[in-house]
Amino acid sequence: MGRESRRVAQGTDMRTILLNPGPVSLSESVRHAVARVDLCHREPEFFDLQDGVIAGLLAVYQNDPALWSAVLVGGSGTFALEAMMASLIPADAHVLVLENGVYGERLSRIADIHGIHNHALKAAWGDEIDLQAVADLLASGDFSHVLAVHHETTTGRLNPVDKIASLCSEFKVQLLLDTVSSFAAEAIPFEQQSLQAVAVTANKCLHGIPGLAMVLCRNESLAQGIKPRSLSLHLPDWAQHQAQQSTPFTPPVNAMLGLRQALKELKKQGGWKARRSRYRKLAGRVAETCEKLGIKQWLPADASSCVLRSYHLPAGLTYNELHDGLKQQGFVIYAGQGDLANHLFRVSTMGEISDYDMARLEQALISVISG
Ligand SMILES: Cc1ncc(COP(=O)(O)O)c(C=O)c1O
Repeated sequence: MGRESRRVAQGTDMRTILLNPGPVSLSESVRHAVARVDLCHREPEFFDLQDGVIAGLLAVYQNDPALWSAVLVGGSGTFALEAMMASLIPADAHVLVLENGVYGERLSRIADIHGIHNHALKAAWGDEIDLQAVADLLASGDFSHVLAVHHETTTGRLNPVDKIASLCSEFKVQLLLDTVSSFAAEAIPFEQQSLQAVAVTANKCLHGIPGLAMVLCRNESLAQGIKPRSLSLHLPDWAQHQAQQSTPFTPPVNAMLGLRQALKELKKQGGWKARRSRYRKLAGRVAETCEKLGIKQWLPADASSCVLRSYHLPAGLTYNELHDGLKQQGFVIYAGQGDLANHLFRVSTMGEISDYDMARLEQALISVISG
């Protein structure tokens, strides 16, 4: 039976904390903002909201609006990836895809579906990307673009996108990144000329709700005149409408209401660097508790993102037993994917998680694992 089809009673006397890598536990003010008003997407109030969200997204990493656009699209993170690739990669491109997990493999799949000529440099899930091999492949002159995942959520590995961007700049190759599970919490090398676009979703490190996908891209990449490969995911069309207080299709209005509030909170809390510090602290606390209980981390801490860490399953406990025991105490953890399902579990500390929640989590881990 798949995990999705199993039902486990959830504690009702407490808030359930999501430790899966998005959607996240919301702050009360974001939850309230999502449903506070009814908005028609053809009224000026909506366009003010849309403008505010676009400006707020560009402000997260101080992207200059004269050089960068934030384009909003309805859908999940995969929609952002597909929109980015279908809209910004020209027909004659040769793309090098860096794979070391599920999401790198997904990039290759999207490229295949859209008839984008691609070659994958494959590492085993969780392994490092071989930067020398990347340099050698780029030096061959065979590639015009590189596609990479920043935080490979499959295992928690943080790929070295700063070094990848430098190599791309050196060899005059364009870089497009999946930053779906890192945007707003990890450093992104926007200053590198090679970096053309990043794909983002509202419901991970930004602390919004699902339904809104975004691509931050250089204005020059939008203006390449690429023939549409999709009606609903063609970014220049969305961008053109959004620049003129319009929208081509019905957008996820309520997800935008939530994200406007979430962006305000991010700024108030000190921006992405403060979020990274907070996530690091929480991830460290979980790791410490696990270590005391004899549970080993899958990757060294310094190879992991601040967002999520993977752990070996405790001896004598299946994933389902661990998951269900924690869920009964108000915490939802996440399984490994594919062949890793029977070997690891994942804990993400994104979202609205208080110190009190963390203390409860520590007790829950102790009671389920050693109890
Ligand atoms: C790095 C990464 N890329 C892409 C996705 C796909 O996002 P979605 O499931 O929202 O389509 C995820 C989802 O967890 C992710 O972590």
